[in-house]
Amino acid sequence: MTHVIVLGNEKGGSGKSTTAMHLIVALVKAGRKVGAVDLDLRQRSLTRYLENRRKFADLKGQTLAFPVVSAVEPSALDSREAARAQETENLQSALAALEGCDFAIIDCPGADTHLSRLAHMHADTILTPLNDSFVDFDLLARIDPETNRITGPSLYSEMVWEARKTRAMSGVAGGIDWVVIRNRLSATRARNKKNVGDKLEDLAARIGFRLARGFGDRVIYRELFPMGLTLLDLGGRDAPVRLSTMSHVTARLEIRSLVASLDLPQPAIEEQAA
Ligand SMILES: Nc1ncnc2c1ncn2[C@@H]1O[C@H](COP(=O)(O)OP(=O)(O)OP(=O)(O)O)[C@@H](O)[C@H]1O
Ligand SMILES: [Mg+2]
Repeated sequence: MTHVIVLGNEKGGSGKSTTAMHLIVALVKAGRKVGAVDLDLRQRSLTRYLENRRKFADLKGQTLAFPVVSAVEPSALDSREAARAQETENLQSALAALEGCDFAIIDCPGADTHLSRLAHMHADTILTPLNDSFVDFDLLARIDPETNRITGPSLYSEMVWEARKTRAMSGVAGGIDWVVIRNRLSATRARNKKNVGDKLEDLAARIGFRLARGFGDRVIYRELFPMGLTLLDLGGRDAPVRLSTMSHVTARLEIRSLVASLDLPQPAIEEQAA
């Protein structure tokens, strides 16, 4: 069975594609077979990240970890209904093509689209990176401005709720594990950081997600994209780029910590021995 991990958050620029890419490389390097699906058919950031990686590998003659890529075509049909039906089929075929993979990692756009909704319904794990601000928090929950208390779920959590309901009704075993991580944590804005953190912990129990350790705000993430590299490719003597600062080392630990806390299915004992 392929374990489906969906990177989702309707808020743009929260770190979905960056996290998707790091997760893909982490799992391939751990010897797992990973499929990648880019559902951001407009920006195609994950696709472009992987294209940059291929170019870099060819240019430097390096062997890098790659996933199996499965593309989903947008529908060009005029009728909304027909276009949706066609996209539903396209996503199903893209996932069917990844049947032999241990994991399928689906990167969603920062908007509510038909394909994104469908992907959430296929998810075993939903991973939601969240910028560390109340603007992003607003997509998860409403807060009463006077009392500062959480008054109820909001757009994106309602979408996850729908996905959970659909999955439960379809009879698929097991629920969806929803993991939220705070991204771009700043070392200086300590007060806001604590406020958002407290509110998230409060909300986690109420709408059914768990919080994993997030990522710090680091320039290296933006620098790696043009080369198609991740923090996990840096370091070592044979590495294409050296791990140069403590900040990079810490960032890599943050990625490893996230992968561990996702609690993903492990390979069978026979597979490990092979
Ligand atoms: N921890 C971080 N520190 C610094 N920059 C980051 C961090 N995470 C992501 N970024 C940068 O923020 C920008 C947005 O990240 P990314 O493209 O991963 O977000 P996204 O959620 O996929 O966006 P979209 O919703 O537009 O698809 C990118 O330039 C990325 O390099
Ligand atoms: Mg993206």
